Amino acid sequence: MLTKEEDYQKKSLKNLKVKIKEEMKKIFIKTFGCQMNVYDSKRIADLMKKYGYEETDKISEGDIILFNTCHIREKAAEKVFSDLGRAKKVKNVREKQGKDTIIVVMGCVVQAEDDVIIKRAPYVDIALGPLAYHKLPELLKKVLSKRDSEEGNNFGLIDTEFYAEPKFDYLPDNKSQGACSFLAIQEGCDNFCTYCVVPYTRGIEYSRPIEDVLKEAKSLVNTGTLEINLLGQNVNSYHGEDKNGKERNIAYLINKLAEIDGLKRIRYTTSYPADVDDDLIEAHKNIKELMPYLHLPIQAGSDIILKAMNRRYSASEYLRLVEKLLKANSEIGFSSDFIVGFPGESDKDFEKTIRIVNEVKFIQAFSFKYSQRAGTPAAIMKNQIEENVKTERLQILQDLLFSYQNKFNKDCIDKTMPVLFEQKGRHKGQLVGRTPYMQNLYAEADFNCINKLIDVKIIDATTNSLKGEKVKG
Ligand code: 5AD
Ligand code: SF4
Repeated sequence: MLTKEEDYQKKSLKNLKVKIKEEMKKIFIKTFGCQMNVYDSKRIADLMKKYGYEETDKISEGDIILFNTCHIREKAAEKVFSDLGRAKKVKNVREKQGKDTIIVVMGCVVQAEDDVIIKRAPYVDIALGPLAYHKLPELLKKVLSKRDSEEGNNFGLIDTEFYAEPKFDYLPDNKSQGACSFLAIQEGCDNFCTYCVVPYTRGIEYSRPIEDVLKEAKSLVNTGTLEINLLGQNVNSYHGEDKNGKERNIAYLINKLAEIDGLKRIRYTTSYPADVDDDLIEAHKNIKELMPYLHLPIQAGSDIILKAMNRRYSASEYLRLVEKLLKANSEIGFSSDFIVGFPGESDKDFEKTIRIVNEVKFIQAFSFKYSQRAGTPAAIMKNQIEENVKTERLQILQDLLFSYQNKFNKDCIDKTMPVLFEQKGRHKGQLVGRTPYMQNLYAEADFNCINKLIDVKIIDATTNSLKGEKVKG
């Protein structure tokens, strides 16, 4: 039993905490696009926390409203402009309540189209390229002091710096947010596939030094991470320097990471087929922490199209690589990206894509209609494909891909797999976790199973998820 005084103190403390929370500044972040953007958004949230901004999932609460944008396909890039319109409305409402709002756009759309943003959304306060986002606090200070001195709005604080190195040095430690964490080890791409904006938005390839990556990985493991997913646009061409200035490949890094006590699972994404070397294949054979799941985008099955895309491999080379990897570890499941309707793709070319899907039997995949991106070589190719043909091909391809995904999932029934539980499920008493193959798995389990690797027997499966039962004992 608390005394009256203790009770009063406890209540006052609680009220004070609520008041501090209410008065804390808030940042609302919406992320579009790839896992690298998800990672960047987390890092920016960590950075802004240091400056007194707490993350909120309500746009109306945002003292800062930030959109982290994607430019890979037209649809993704367009989405941000409708969201910016919404942000402007929120800003007006907040203004009437006497609250200031800073609207920030960061990411690949800024790098590619900062002039378009200025024209279409002049109320944006800060625009930052994907390699310059660590400068947000600095630019924020400038905007706020300008607000104080001049009144009213101002645009124009744009930074589209194009070197990846400094960013990582200016960010706070990457702390885990649960059982699985992303860790960016490489950024940018020199492959210049003819359809892709990434080399122009994320810049040329840069690999972080081995020691920096290991330090970040240890910090993640010390704060609760059991699974690390190494990120990079072309992650397997990683060539970071070690302590002695010697360049090391991703297989070396994976070997070093596997030595970290408490790190149970390692993944890496996204890989470029022509850059998978023998060391990496060997790592799939020898390192038990390396998950038997590989995202290896092929894009198309026709050599003519692969050549026009400037992909540095043929369909048969891709198949040979799959064979080699399976020889090293027969448990590996492959996932992939596909583009249909690339300029010049004939029915015969498309059939070759279908053929390769039937050979590899991908267990998961992402497939897209080709989207013309200004500034890329494919955008001005003469033989563009009609939209209705792209739609038809995508449907055929996706039906086939889903059928293999469904079959793989159904074949898991009655098998037992280690599952890393990450969070509560939608139903009471249910948790959600991931199998080694990145499948979402639902099972009834105690809350204390979260952040643990537990053997689960698969009892049911759909195309998108598995249902399981904890194995007793
Ligand atoms: N159109 C359609 N899909 C694209 N991708 C990249 N650029 C384009 C484009 N212009 C797809 C590729 C890549 C994935 C991330 O996005 O399949 O692997
Ligand atoms: Fe784009 Fe090709 Fe680089 Fe992938 S490998 S990021 S598709 S240029």
